[in-house]
Amino acid sequence: MTGAGCHNGPVTRASLNKQPHEVASMFDHVAERYDLTNDVLSLGQDRIWRKEVARAVGARPAEKVLDLAAGTGTSSLPFARAGAYVVPCDFSLGMLRVGKQRRNWLPYTAGDATRLPFKDDVFDAVTISFGLRNVQDTDAALREMHRVTRPGGTSGTARGTFSGRSHRLTRR
Ligand SMILES: C[S@@+](CC[C@H](N)C(=O)[O-])C[C@H]1O[C@@H](n2cnc3c(N)ncnc32)[C@H](O)[C@@H]1O
Repeated sequence: MTGAGCHNGPVTRASLNKQPHEVASMFDHVAERYDLTNDVLSLGQDRIWRKEVARAVGARPAEKVLDLAAGTGTSSLPFARAGAYVVPCDFSLGMLRVGKQRRNWLPYTAGDATRLPFKDDVFDAVTISFGLRNVQDTDAALREMHRVTRPGGTSGTARGTFSGRSHRLTRR
């Protein structure tokens, strides 16, 4: 699964030399084993990183959060547990399908990060966890994140490798 997980080392951008449909297809193929592989290869650390991101964003009950490139929705769970209304969005239908089988109560939405199917200013917070490196046109994705975040809201990116992880938050 090199390049597909949230833990990857030397290959830091799975989308290098890959078209968006190839990236989506790659995740379709690893979807069933994606979460387990992350847990095993990161020794469970990936779930702690995702909790840290949600804590840093500080989403409150009933706030609307968009979790972009959400995959199976594992990165959405800490937001849901904080009481936020979180929308997991991804363009890999395979990842969304597996997520829906595991947590059918989350409002999974198919969408491309570079052309989001949402109106302007609708979310209190927008995050992309361990996913921006997989997006081919990162500038377009960041512009879209800004567009759908309400004024005063928060947008954030999180990344992680075997050697460390970091996140960056921006207030709109
Ligand atoms: C490494 S996974 C991260 C999944 C999840 N956020 C997590 O923390 O486990 C990266 C995800 O980015 C998605 N992705 C890549 N490019 C995308 C795009 N342009 N639009 C939507 N999703 C995209 C892939 O389909 C994949 O599910």
